[in-house]
Amino acid sequence: MPHWNILVVGGGSREHAICWKLRQSPRVDRLYCAPGNGGTATVAENLPLAASQVDVLADWAQANHVDLVVVGPEDPLALGLVDRLTERGIKALGPTASAARLESSKRWAKEIMVEAGIPTAPYAVFDDPQRAWDYARAQPYPLVLKADGLAAGKGVVVAQTPAEARSAIHAALEAGVFGEAGRTIVIEEFLDGDELSLIAFVSGRTVAPLALARDHKRVGDGDTGPNTGGMGAIAPSRIISDEAIPRLYTTILEAIATALHERHLIYQGVIFAGLMLTRDGPKVLEFNCRLGDPEAQVILPLLGADLAEIAYATVTGELRPGPLPVLPGYRCGVVIASGGYPGPYRTGLPIEGVDEVDANALVFHAGTKRVDGALVTAGGRVLTVVGQGETLSAARAHAYANVERIRFDGAYYRHDIGLREVSR
Ligand code: AMP
Ligand code: GLY
Repeated sequence: MPHWNILVVGGGSREHAICWKLRQSPRVDRLYCAPGNGGTATVAENLPLAASQVDVLADWAQANHVDLVVVGPEDPLALGLVDRLTERGIKALGPTASAARLESSKRWAKEIMVEAGIPTAPYAVFDDPQRAWDYARAQPYPLVLKADGLAAGKGVVVAQTPAEARSAIHAALEAGVFGEAGRTIVIEEFLDGDELSLIAFVSGRTVAPLALARDHKRVGDGDTGPNTGGMGAIAPSRIISDEAIPRLYTTILEAIATALHERHLIYQGVIFAGLMLTRDGPKVLEFNCRLGDPEAQVILPLLGADLAEIAYATVTGELRPGPLPVLPGYRCGVVIASGGYPGPYRTGLPIEGVDEVDANALVFHAGTKRVDGALVTAGGRVLTVVGQGETLSAARAHAYANVERIRFDGAYYRHDIGLREVSR
């Protein structure tokens, strides 16, 4: 059986979940994570290299006989990490920079969706503030305004009034708050409904979907307050009937894989479709080129297959089409954040209780690090606690019982992760 040295790029809770799952594979020899965090250090060797240092990472991978690189976040993909690795003959799970435009340019993604007949909100594109405003003032509200480029999850405004749209246009097109990423904006119709995360491994036209998941993006209970990177997730989601799922695979995942393939774009990685389940059917809010965070933390523990083998098959064109095996039961992941997040927060605070977690939960680290052997906070989202259970309520109960064992100054979490799906 061949063995592989694998480098995981990124340092969040998603990357800890990826490393944890890869470590279970008998195929994995050396496992590295760049830059990693206090949790990845327990299953992989952390490297002091930033995810955005794409040339340095590619050189390091070559010099250290890495067989496969798994790219967690979007920035290194848009910066061409996969292109750099491919030039050096190293296999990489993730799209090339030109295919990663699916996430790094909302305008490009909208164009390809319309051409491929993938359902999405009607939209218009602007780089001139006056024209944007002439259009926006005449639209029904709420209205959605998006920076074209990558804006770390902060580039989307749901304007309730024309005045809010006007200030969003000013911020992006005149004040330049998103820099180059916001020099072009997409203005689109507001879609109402439940959101769903549809994620699959994609190798050319072959699609292998993972369990459906639900993220919770707002900071506060009851979906209140500002958007965050994600405050918790559950999987598998039962919000859509089993009979309706194959149609999502064909009309969205296979449709986008085929559209990319027809444009001669090499896609060997993960595609994540953020869906809105509207009264007129599911529509795509956005595509991402990677696993979601916190979705990965609940999806990967449910994956009934060897992640290293799936990743390797994806990059060698041997991926088998069709849904990947999903283990029985449910997972509920609750993010513990620093007080103040997504605004300013303190770091360096000692974290207690991570070792007190019981066998019904996993803890994936994000903003943590070890200082003189002690675990301290180092970011906005600090940990994801994932409870497991035969039912979603049991998974929630195990998640929260263990969340309460973990303590640091100002620790904050939502109390209602998965609650709406339990009550349905
Ligand atoms: P995106 O980064 O495009 O997924 O947008 C971030 C969040 O903004 C989504 O998860 C939705 O909650 C919201 N959003 C984006 N586009 C729309 C839309 N057309 N209608 C309603 N909400 C939206
Ligand atoms: N959970 C949403 C994202 O990863 O973008």
